[in-house]
Amino acid sequence: MTDNGQVFHINTRGISPTKGPVALPEPAERRAGEIIRQYPQSRSAIMPLLYIAQEHFGLITQAGIDWVASRLSLPPIQVWEVATFYTMYYKKPVGRYHVQVCRTLPCALRGAKKVSEFLHRRLGLKPGEVSKDGFWSFEEVECLGSCGTAPMCQINDVFFENLTDEKLTQILARIEKEKPDLRFSTIRDELGAGLAGSPKSEIV
Ligand code: FES
Repeated sequence: MTDNGQVFHINTRGISPTKGPVALPEPAERRAGEIIRQYPQSRSAIMPLLYIAQEHFGLITQAGIDWVASRLSLPPIQVWEVATFYTMYYKKPVGRYHVQVCRTLPCALRGAKKVSEFLHRRLGLKPGEVSKDGFWSFEEVECLGSCGTAPMCQINDVFFENLTDEKLTQILARIEKEKPDLRFSTIRDELGAGLAGSPKSEIV
């Protein structure tokens, strides 16, 4: 129940108790250990460990939840609660390039609807859909913390800001041509090479 008395429900389908030891490959386990040691209470490492699970499995799966739960000695439901709250954890498969458009007020006032409509036309996708070839997926999300450069979107783990139709046209064309690594690896603790010439931020 929330503070204002509203009742909400978490989709508990698929949740089951942790089934014995779960282990990921050694680099993931080592990185998880490093992260857990940074916190006085191990449960504080839920979010980075969920990123590791997502990086390994490609999305948040029951096996990933069980792994996080076992590393942090928590019930799986507590890990699900965090995973289902945040849109950056994928609860269903996404495309190779996952476009998340912020639709919260500052972005809305600066043209987020236009950005979404442009993507709908350009990608042929409605929010929540994945293209048939699995290359693109598209979603509308709440504030991504880049309000000062609205309107903006996040593609995989890279922000693209101050968007216009022209800018988006160039960004999408370059991604289709260059197929850059726009992922942040929590296991390696580094961002992918990104688009040529501007690996860490927007490109045009
Ligand atoms: S409102 Fe869009 S990033 Fe904050």
